[in-house]
Amino acid sequence: MQGNVLIVCYSYSGKTRRIAEVIQRQTGGRLGRIYPRQPYPSNFERLLTQVKKEIRTRTRPLLLPVDDKADAYDVIFVGTPNWCGTIAPPLASWLSENDLAGKTVLPFFSHCGGEDRGMEQAVRELCPGAKIGSSLYVLENGSGDLQGRISTWLKQNFPKD
Ligand SMILES: Cc1cc2nc3c(=O)[nH]c(=O)nc-3n(C[C@H](O)[C@H](O)[C@H](O)COP(=O)(O)O)c2cc1C
Repeated sequence: MQGNVLIVCYSYSGKTRRIAEVIQRQTGGRLGRIYPRQPYPSNFERLLTQVKKEIRTRTRPLLLPVDDKADAYDVIFVGTPNWCGTIAPPLASWLSENDLAGKTVLPFFSHCGGEDRGMEQAVRELCPGAKIGSSLYVLENGSGDLQGRISTWLKQNFPKD
C-alpha cells in the first residue's frame, strides 16, 4: 500500500477492534485506539440513554491523549460501531480534533444489522477536504470470511497498477 497508514478505531465491546487488527495485519499500518476519558456505562440502558443524548446534542466526549496524530500519515482508516444509526461520539471527537484534509480516509463500520442513518456521511462531514474511499460494513465482528472481505476491499480501494 502506498504511503504511511494509520488505523484508528473506537470500539465499545471489541468487535470493531478485531476488524481494525485485521486491517493492520494486511496493510502493515500503525494501529491506534480511541478511548473516551470517561468510560461509557456498562449497563446497556444507561449506555443507550447517554449515547442518544450525545448524538442528539452533538456532544464530543473528551478523549484520552493519543500518540497518533494524523499529520504523519497519508492513508487513515477510521472505524466505529454503528450507534443508533450513526458513528459513535468518540470517533466524532477524534475526527473533529484532527485535520484530515488532503488525506485518504477509509471508514469501516461494525453493526448488528440495524439501520444506517448515514454513517459514511457523518465521517465525510467531519473530514472536509479529505478523499473518502468506499466504506466497509461488517456485521458484528465479521466472523468467517473477514480476512477475505478486507483483502477484497483493500484491492478495490488501492488497486495495484
Ligand atoms: C448504544 C448502542 C447502540 C447501537 N445501535 C445500533 C444501531 O443503530 N444499528 C446497528 O446495526 N447496531 C447497533 N448497535 C450494535 C453495534 O453496532 C454492534 O454490536 C457492533 O458490532 C459493536 O461493535 P464494538 O464491539 O466495536 O463496540 C448498537 C450498540 C450499542 C451499544
